[in-house]
Amino acid sequence: MKDSALGHRGVRKALAALLALLVATILVGFFWLPQVKPDFTAGGLWDAICRIAGVPSTWSTELKMDDPQASRVSMVAGLQGTAGGDVGRGGTLALRCTMCHGARGVSSSDVPNLAGQYAEVVYKQLVDYKNGQRRHVLMQALASGLSEQDIRDLSAFYAQLPRPSPAPAPTPVPRLVTVGDPLRNIAPCASCHGGIDKKPGSPWLEGMSHAYLSTQLQQFASGVRRNDTLQAMRNIARQMTPEEIEAVARYYSVLAIVGSAGSAPAR
Ligand code: HEC
Ligand code: HEC
Repeated sequence: MKDSALGHRGVRKALAALLALLVATILVGFFWLPQVKPDFTAGGLWDAICRIAGVPSTWSTELKMDDPQASRVSMVAGLQGTAGGDVGRGGTLALRCTMCHGARGVSSSDVPNLAGQYAEVVYKQLVDYKNGQRRHVLMQALASGLSEQDIRDLSAFYAQLPRPSPAPAPTPVPRLVTVGDPLRNIAPCASCHGGIDKKPGSPWLEGMSHAYLSTQLQQFASGVRRNDTLQAMRNIARQMTPEEIEAVARYYSVLAIVGSAGSAPAR
């Protein structure tokens, strides 16, 4: 043999190409990316090395799973319907709620309606306020004094109150409501909130105030509200533009004529 393996032209070329690639990845990983995206260096040298090698750095670090604001409530079948509550007792307890949520659970201000809200939703939100997983000064203070049975009774009471009657759907209906956006992984709102399908724990939205709906969506987007199980709403709201939030909030807020009582549609 005339040439050793290393002296062979093809092999030398391959080694040179490999070296060039290594230099390029080092330049990109250590210098270019940190410059265009300053948060790339936030993780330190190890993260930078992992990025260059193309492996997740979390193999070496513990995943942060324990968010104190993550909900502890699981959607069990027993919560649906009446949440195991007593409507009569709930009605008496609800006298403390009427000044904000309305005499019959329909608010004329930006406070959310409770009339006809699913029992499991009222239950979950009250437990989340009580335990501090959903933050709101007034509601946390009010919920902290409620017992588990109080919460079940209030949920049963509000679930059976008639919802405001629906107004004709405004045209055009936002695409996100009926179709979603598969490219951004947004499922249609109606596939969880009713219309196409109703997933347990998804609130009845129609007739809530525009300001309330858009604030909640903004809070999910920014992570201020984080009590949605499995990030169901955060994953969606983060992807939405301010215009889209505005459009869906408008759509759901005008879908009901607040104040005119109809009967709650069957679950
Ligand atoms: C002082 C006014 C006030 C009173 C009294 C009050 N609430 Fe509220 N409630 C609010 C406001 C404001 C919100 C929206 C808070 C937020 O943005 O998280 C709210 C939210 C809620 C929600 C969440 C609704 C949803 O769609 O997510 C529930 C459930 C609720 N209240 C139940 C009650 C019950 C039951 C009582 C009586 C024991 C009560 N509230 C008394 C003002 C009040
Ligand atoms: C995968 C199911 C799912 C889809 C799709 C979905 N939602 Fe939700 N949404 C939920 C659940 C579950 C909650 C209750 C979160 C919690 O437990 O606090 C919620 C809560 C909300 C709330 C807060 C309401 C309140 O009273 O607290 C708003 C507003 C909302 N969703 C709007 C939307 C809009 C608008 C869309 C479409 C762009 C949408 N959602 C799509 C499941 C969904």
